[in-house]
Amino acid sequence: MINSHNQTNDLVTESTSNTFNNLETILVIDDSPTNLEVLHATLENAGYEVRVEMDGNSGIEQVKNNPPDLILLDVMMPGIDGFETCRRLQANPSTQEIPIIFITALSDSVEKVKGLSLGAVDYITKPFNQKEVLARIKLHLKLRQLNLELDEQKQQLEQRVKERTAELSHALEELKKSQLQLVQSEKISFLGQLVTGVAHEVNNPVGFISTNLYYAYNYIQDLINLVKLYQKEFPTPGYEIEDNIKAMDLQHVLEDLPKVLSSMKLGTERIQGIMQSLRNFSRLDGEEKKAVDIHEGLETSLMILQHRLKALPKRPAINVIKEYGNLPKIKCYPVQLNQVFMNLLSNAIDAIEESIKDIDTFSTAYRIGLIRICTTIDKQQVTIKIYDNGIGISESVQNQIFQPFFTTKPEGKGSGLGLSISNQIITEKHGGTLQCISSVGNGTEFVIQIPLKS
Ligand SMILES: Nc1ncnc2c1ncn2[C@@H]1O[C@H](COP(=O)(O)OP(=O)(O)OP(=O)(O)O)[C@@H](O)[C@H]1O
Ligand SMILES: [Mg+2]
Repeated sequence: MINSHNQTNDLVTESTSNTFNNLETILVIDDSPTNLEVLHATLENAGYEVRVEMDGNSGIEQVKNNPPDLILLDVMMPGIDGFETCRRLQANPSTQEIPIIFITALSDSVEKVKGLSLGAVDYITKPFNQKEVLARIKLHLKLRQLNLELDEQKQQLEQRVKERTAELSHALEELKKSQLQLVQSEKISFLGQLVTGVAHEVNNPVGFISTNLYYAYNYIQDLINLVKLYQKEFPTPGYEIEDNIKAMDLQHVLEDLPKVLSSMKLGTERIQGIMQSLRNFSRLDGEEKKAVDIHEGLETSLMILQHRLKALPKRPAINVIKEYGNLPKIKCYPVQLNQVFMNLLSNAIDAIEESIKDIDTFSTAYRIGLIRICTTIDKQQVTIKIYDNGIGISESVQNQIFQPFFTTKPEGKGSGLGLSISNQIITEKHGGTLQCISSVGNGTEFVIQIPLKS
């Protein structure tokens, strides 16, 4: 006589001891001791580990605590019946994969259909035909085994796909990064070559203008002295000369000519200065940091962008307010830092233009574009803030602006590299930070902080 798990511990002791070998476990849930006895004997003889429960609830508990490989489930039971037991086991993700075979009366096809529709894999009929029962159980245990193997293979495959995807995205990131660096050095070296070429071409003619201005100044000085001497020695040169002196306003010419020459000299010096700072601006940085005047870099950037700041038919000039602090020379990679200034300033101009674009009349007086550059220093770091009163950046866009190739500008206008390159230059090359403070309609401020000791 077989007792249920609740009534005696014999079977449980037997079955738990079996968990150490590889016997397949079958749980029989049936309230009929006779059925249990027959099935227990048949299954055990066939080499299975058998557990039994006599009602649905105990069966469910047993399945949860000690999942079997297969369940034989009677339909008619006191308490919850076999259908309800099946429904609950199927509803629980941790038990739904265990195959359930219903035990039904031979003639009851309604029960068979209902059981199968609730998720059972098969049914066996009473009275039992031992061979058939074993054949069905064997088949479903095999199917379950195959399913488990399939699941495992699927998981392994998914894991491999995950790993490969991670490898590929890592490779893609690396590729993007090196592409970025390539573009960056391409950009710098192209700009460098261009500016060096132009500076060289301009320097030659400016050089001989400035050299000749020196001689011209001396010759003119001599000629002026000579004219003055004539005036002194020949105070009455005759009508024709006197008329001429009057017509050309000789006095004014004599006074103005040296001034004209001085301003020409000043002009050529300015051109030479600009060429020098352009060369400094675009010369490739060496391995070592250099102590430089940050303001000079900012000024040169503004000078290069001058054509974009001045008034256009569709908008007034953009105002640039400079609040420069008293900065000593700062150790940095000047060319790269200038590249950051250029990126931030041209973004600021774009943002201002974007904010004015939609206003159709010239009543933009209340919407004058404004860029404010502010530099400060304390013991630890130098801070450069670049503010613009342009369109501003929404929070969702702000999360992406430092990503390579992210742009909101039309194709051909923006490559989406400016800020990611700038961020890389500030953080990786200078150990600093680049922050963006902005909201739509309130303009944007980029804050560069560079530590003094690095
Ligand atoms: N001052 C700013 N105001 C408003 N939006 C800005 C500002 N600066 C950057 N952005 C936003 O961040 C995006 C990314 O800027 P980033 O400089 O990296 O690329 P880009 O300007 O689009 O292209 P480029 O590579 O030519 O610089 C811009 O497309 C723009 O949407
Ligand atoms: Mg940009």
